[in-house]
Amino acid sequence: METDVAGVRQAVSTGRLPAWDRVEALVAAAYGRYRGHGAGAVADYIPVLAEADPGLFGVVVAEVAGDMHAAGAADVEFTIQSISKAFVYALVCDQLGHDVVRDRVGVDNTGLPFDSVIAMELNDGHPMNPMVNAGALATTALMPAASPDERWERIRSGLSRFAGRPLDIDTTVFRSESATNHRNRALAQLLESYGRIDIDPLRVVDVYTRQCALRVSARDIAVMGATLADGGVNPVTGERVVTPAVCRDTLSVLAATGMYERSGEWLFEIGLPAKSGVSGGIVAVAPGKGAIGTFSPPLDSAGNSVRGQRAVAYLSRTLGLNVFASEVHPPTVPPTTQRSGTA
Ligand code: DON
Repeated sequence: METDVAGVRQAVSTGRLPAWDRVEALVAAAYGRYRGHGAGAVADYIPVLAEADPGLFGVVVAEVAGDMHAAGAADVEFTIQSISKAFVYALVCDQLGHDVVRDRVGVDNTGLPFDSVIAMELNDGHPMNPMVNAGALATTALMPAASPDERWERIRSGLSRFAGRPLDIDTTVFRSESATNHRNRALAQLLESYGRIDIDPLRVVDVYTRQCALRVSARDIAVMGATLADGGVNPVTGERVVTPAVCRDTLSVLAATGMYERSGEWLFEIGLPAKSGVSGGIVAVAPGKGAIGTFSPPLDSAGNSVRGQRAVAYLSRTLGLNVFASEVHPPTVPPTTQRSGTA
């Protein structure tokens, strides 16, 4: 598609969050409404994840001004899993630019589960988007580095800058996933067979599995999301992590693909770019305003946290975050005057 708007200065227009105490009250209300909700099942295809406490629930809103609102298990750590895909994508876009990543990885929904092999086969070996496992592996492989160790360190330090603190790996989860991730190895080898990655596919899987095993809290992912909402500047540390253009590209990909085959339904109901992970995290981003981070391990059949989806839906509606919502603009000129003026 022709998207060249060179020479045209892009304007940015966003609204504001409600007052601090209103946000505080609504975060507490979101937690109170859904903490007793019992639906969903904890992921168990990575064996150690099955040990997660299904009762844990945390809700955080991070504002672009740096203010934080938290309720429940906001600081309990879990592994970032697929939420890492969004931020590694942003880092790789920042290094390689919009066009390279769009062509190599793609930006379109597969309509199929996150670990689908068929999706790649149906699309001539193209991974389709960076949020499914095939596209995330291809994206991790694109991170410029002279060695797998350097690639891992660049990803770990980049995700830490998004979070505003050094993130560490959960070695138990890393080992548990490494021992069982036969499907990701198959996807990486298929990518190699189609010429979509040109470095050792099993070492790419190793770095990808490490990035998924980074420990974060709901507070961390809210700050990471708020950095994407804030034109790439971490609102807590003040550090620029990526450019505003990279944030825009990342959020548009999240809107189309972040909640996998449920992305359309999610946009329809909630209207925010978002990303989920199988440990139970969700980050949802309101551009120019802030981000919501939630943590609750029980998932629906697509791999999205059940309590987290409900809490984000509630906050999107009550805080007025849906990016597609509008109201009639108050007329500044009475309609009769307008009519006679244009007659
Ligand atoms: O590669 C995997 O399967 C996991 N490390 C991440 C998958 C994931 O988080 C999917 N999320 N809903």
